[in-house]
Amino acid sequence: LKSWPGLIEAYRPYLPVTSDTPVVTLLEGNTPLIPVPAIASRIGRQVRVFVKYDGLNPTGSFKDRGMTLAISKAKEAGAKAVICASTGNTSAAAAAYARRGGMRAFVLIPDGYVALGKLAQALLYGAEVLAIKGNFDDALKIVRDMAQSYPVTLVNSVNPFRLEGQKTGAFEVVDALGNAPDWLCIPVGNAGNITAYWMGFCQYHQEGKCDRLPKMMGFQAAGAAPIVTGKPVAHPDTLATAIRIGNPASWEKAIAAQQASQGAFNAVTDEEILAAYRLLASEEGIFCEPASAASVAGMLKVQDQIPNGATVVCVLTGNGLKDPDTAIKHCENQFKNGVEPVLSAVAEVMGF
Ligand code: F0G
Repeated sequence: LKSWPGLIEAYRPYLPVTSDTPVVTLLEGNTPLIPVPAIASRIGRQVRVFVKYDGLNPTGSFKDRGMTLAISKAKEAGAKAVICASTGNTSAAAAAYARRGGMRAFVLIPDGYVALGKLAQALLYGAEVLAIKGNFDDALKIVRDMAQSYPVTLVNSVNPFRLEGQKTGAFEVVDALGNAPDWLCIPVGNAGNITAYWMGFCQYHQEGKCDRLPKMMGFQAAGAAPIVTGKPVAHPDTLATAIRIGNPASWEKAIAAQQASQGAFNAVTDEEILAAYRLLASEEGIFCEPASAASVAGMLKVQDQIPNGATVVCVLTGNGLKDPDTAIKHCENQFKNGVEPVLSAVAEVMGF
């Protein structure tokens, strides 16, 4: 069994790297494509459903795919510092890879709207964290301007190397299935990942690695659904804080992917997100973060449109451990406290 070398080595011919590129890697990628039969059985037809569990990346989200490349290229160019705006996951990934590559990492986050685990990561990895009194869109505007005027490299997904790295998620899906799925369901925030997946499927298709392309099905949270409604949202609001974004940077590219693939954008409510989040955990044993569950919530919402016999892949972008507060607050399960430490008391509580 050969060990996984990280995604830059694994997909080197498909990526913009040379022998001069210093590879900064945490051996990201190669995440499992897990069948979810309990969820598939809720769809009244013969369908195969898988989740691409990208929450198993080194910092717990798909951002590591983009960050290994963005940071390697920044280092190649001689950068000493990187900067990003983030709803949390990008900041964790940027911090981890930048520090590993010997660079400073500046991150701007919306004050009060970043899940606890993500904040803990950014701080411990050694990022310089600025919480701003504004939302993600405000923060992104500032860091774009910063990167124009100061010696800091922008590592948000407007950095083209981010998308180049993230497209490997599509490669892995095709490598695992032997072809592209019929549908690719994916949460959409800043719209980088849907763009990257589409790039990956198209590139693999051109290389003859698959003989079809999936419909790209993007899902936004109802309170932060600018692409669905067709206009920016000034005050985006959703408990899925990762995708609490009102004016996505890759808006046009995402629309282009949806149109070329004959896919669609739809919105899911926070209640639908939470239902899918609980279902994934309690019936499939898969703990993702709320934003990630938007892909499964969306698939279930538009399930009538899934063709009979179809193969569907839902991308689970982040790990549930990122956001323990939401898990505890919105879990319908409870633990029994104050149980006496004796066998009879325990057995009684268990109902035996
Ligand atoms: N899922 C998770 C867990 C995310 O963290 C994000 C984006 C998305 C989905 C949406 O991906 O932006 O490419 O459409 N998080 C960014 C961040 C914005 O700052 O961590 P997208």
